[in-house]
Amino acid sequence: MMYSILAQYYQDLVNDPQSIAEYVDFIAPFVSGKTSGIDFGCGTGEITHAIACLGLTMDGVDLSLDMINCGITQYPDIHFIQGNMVDVALDKTYDCAFCLVDTLNYLLDEADVIRFIQHVYDHLNPKGIFILDAHHPNRLNEFKEPFIEEGWVDGVGYQWTIATDGDYLNHHFAFYTDHGLINESHVQRIYDGKWLNQVLTDVGFTTTTYYDFRSNPSLDCEKYDFIGVKS
Ligand SMILES: C[S@@+](CC[C@H](N)C(=O)[O-])C[C@H]1O[C@@H](n2cnc3c(N)ncnc32)[C@H](O)[C@@H]1O
Repeated sequence: MMYSILAQYYQDLVNDPQSIAEYVDFIAPFVSGKTSGIDFGCGTGEITHAIACLGLTMDGVDLSLDMINCGITQYPDIHFIQGNMVDVALDKTYDCAFCLVDTLNYLLDEADVIRFIQHVYDHLNPKGIFILDAHHPNRLNEFKEPFIEEGWVDGVGYQWTIATDGDYLNHHFAFYTDHGLINESHVQRIYDGKWLNQVLTDVGFTTTTYYDFRSNPSLDCEKYDFIGVKS
């Protein structure tokens, strides 16, 4: 199960205040004057909460109950919903939608990506904004030589390995706890940016693409940031 064991270590291992601040700086101008939002794949809600601090009432959807349970007491301002972002039942529409920190890459079928983007479109108000990021294919080159990080988190030794397999990134986490070794594996699929942009456009969004929050891609950029505006 993804984001089960990892949930309790996620905030310390993955999120850092500087990267959250960079997300907020990028997002802020696009959501000015908007009042409601939904974060798909919100995890423990740290970025969702940071967006709420910009003045939006935020809902967050995540597949992992363990991730939601880590955030629910910390961020009472967020309405957490457990479900699959591809088809989670939502009974309202929003001014803004977000899917951040390469959450989209957990959708392994193209058909699910298309269904998800249509689902987002259907739950936005007119002129609503969708901010979506995804791994750039450069990531596949970056992890051709497996990346291995080792360290301590909350007093527990861990090893995090990332390796490329075709169009996929395989993540493996090992936690050396007092109760023994606990493992968790994740798979992400890397999509071509032109294809993602076409899906957004076909669904009805007017799009602008950024790269690592900049207008132009660097040779080794890590991610796409798409801004979609509902017509
Ligand atoms: C890389 S984490 C990002 C979490 C959060 N956006 C953040 O910035 O901290 C990816 C999250 O996506 C969630 N996720 C993966 N597939 C999902 C799906 N199909 N529906 C909803 N959530 C999903 C995982 O449970 C995990 O919490």
